[in-house]
Amino acid sequence: MAEGPRALQAGEWEQLNQLVSTVFRPQMFRDYPQLFNDDNRENLRVVAEDGKVVCHVGMTERPASLAGCRIDVACIGAVSTLGDYRGRGFASQAFQDACSKGAADGVDVMLISGGRGLYTRVGCREVGRDWDVALTPDGAAGLGSSLGLAGAGAYALTPVGREQIDHLRAIYQREPVRFLRPLADWEMALDCGIVMNTASDFWGLSIGGTLLAYLVVHQPDKVHRRGPDVPTTVRVVEFAGERTAVVAALPRLLEHYGTERLTVHVQGTDLALHALLAGGPIAGQAGLVLKPATASGTLRVINFPQLMDRCRPLLAERIGTKAARDLTFEADAPPGSAEGGFTIRRGDDRLRLPDLATLAVYLFGTPGPVVPPPAPAPLAELLAPALPLPALWYGVNYV
Ligand SMILES: CC(C)(COP(=O)(O)OP(=O)(O)OC[C@H]1O[C@@H](n2cnc3c(N)ncnc32)[C@H](O)[C@@H]1OP(=O)(O)O)[C@@H](O)C(=O)NCCC(=O)NCCS
Repeated sequence: MAEGPRALQAGEWEQLNQLVSTVFRPQMFRDYPQLFNDDNRENLRVVAEDGKVVCHVGMTERPASLAGCRIDVACIGAVSTLGDYRGRGFASQAFQDACSKGAADGVDVMLISGGRGLYTRVGCREVGRDWDVALTPDGAAGLGSSLGLAGAGAYALTPVGREQIDHLRAIYQREPVRFLRPLADWEMALDCGIVMNTASDFWGLSIGGTLLAYLVVHQPDKVHRRGPDVPTTVRVVEFAGERTAVVAALPRLLEHYGTERLTVHVQGTDLALHALLAGGPIAGQAGLVLKPATASGTLRVINFPQLMDRCRPLLAERIGTKAARDLTFEADAPPGSAEGGFTIRRGDDRLRLPDLATLAVYLFGTPGPVVPPPAPAPLAELLAPALPLPALWYGVNYV
C-alpha cells in the first residue's frame, strides 16, 4: 500500500538520497542545498511504498518582488519516481500535494523547472515575454563600439566570492523583478558553486574598487553538449547591476573561456540591456542573435485573488488608482486547486478565464503577438495596459 503524499520524515534522508541519486545523479544533495536541508523538510513531498521513499516532489518557498509588489513563490524541482513505481500517478499526486501545501503557506505562484505532461496537464505553462541572446566572438568584437559603451575597458572584471556577498546582494536588490533572497541562499550558492544545475563562476565588474555589476556563468567545460558539433558555450545564468558593465563583460568572458558562443537571458522588463544589445551597430548581424523567449520552465498560478491583490499597486501604476481599486478577482476553486475557472469583475463588467492554463498565459504573457482573452470584454481593454505581469528569472534560486 502506498503511503502519502506527505512530508519527508526525519529518518528518511538516506532513502531520499537513494531515490534522487538513482533517478538523476549522485550528489544531488550537494548541488541543491536550498532544497535538501532540514529546515526545508516539510516542503519535500514524498510517496513511500514497500518500506521506502519511491517518489519525490521538492519545493522551496521564497518571497519575490514583481516591480515592487511583494508576492510569494514556490519553486519545484528534483521531481522523481523510481523506475518500478512509475506510471501509477505518484508524481502527479505528489505535485498536487505540493500545490496544496504551497497554497496553505500563502504562495501566489509556482515555478517548475520542467514542462512535461505531468505539469502541463494541470495548468502549468511556459510564460514571459523575454529574450534569449546568443553572441559569437565576431558579434562580441562589434559590441565594443556599441552605443553607451565608450570606456567599457574601465570596468575591472574579477572573480567574486563569499567575501563580496554584501555587495552582490546590494546589486541584486536594485533589480525590479527578483527573488527576495535570504542570506543563506547566497551562502549556499557561493559555497556549492552550482547555479541552475551546473558548476558556475561568479564574476564582478568594478570601477575604482566599487562593484557595479556581477555575472554568474556556467563553466563551459561543465555544460552538457548534445553532440560534438554543438559549439562550446559560456552561459550567463544570472546577472545584475549596471547594464553597460554587463555588456562590457560579454566579449571578455568569451575571450577568457575561449568559447565560440555566449548566451544570456534578458527579462522582458530589462529594456536597458535589450536596447544596448539590440540597438547597437551590430544589431541584426550574424554574430548576435536576439530571439523572443519565455522565462525558464513553466508557471502555475496558486492563489489568483491574493496574487492580484498583491499586484494592485502595479496595476494602479499602469491603469490608474480607481480602475485598479474597483477590480475584484475570484477563483471558482480554493487556492492550490487544479480545477475551475477565474473571474475578473468591475461593476457589471466581467471577464472569464476558463482554466489555469489560460490564466497563466493571460497574466504573464508569451513571446510573439499578445494573446487576447478567450471572450472579448470591455474589461479586457481596460486591463490590456496592465499586463503582462513581469516574469521572474530563477538564477541562484533554481531548483
Ligand atoms: C517524470 C516522473 C517523475 C513521473 O513519475 P510517475 O510517478 O511515473 O508520474 P505519473 O504516474 O503521475 O505520470 C507518469 C506518466 O503517466 C501518464 N499519465 C499520468 N496521468 C495521466 C493522465 N491523466 N492522462 C494521460 N497520461 C497520464 C503520462 O505519460 C505521465 O508522464 P508525462 O509527464 O510524460 O505526461 C518519472 O518518470 C521520473 O522520475 N522520470 C525521470 C526524472 C524526470 O524526468 N523528472 C522530471 C523532471 S522535470
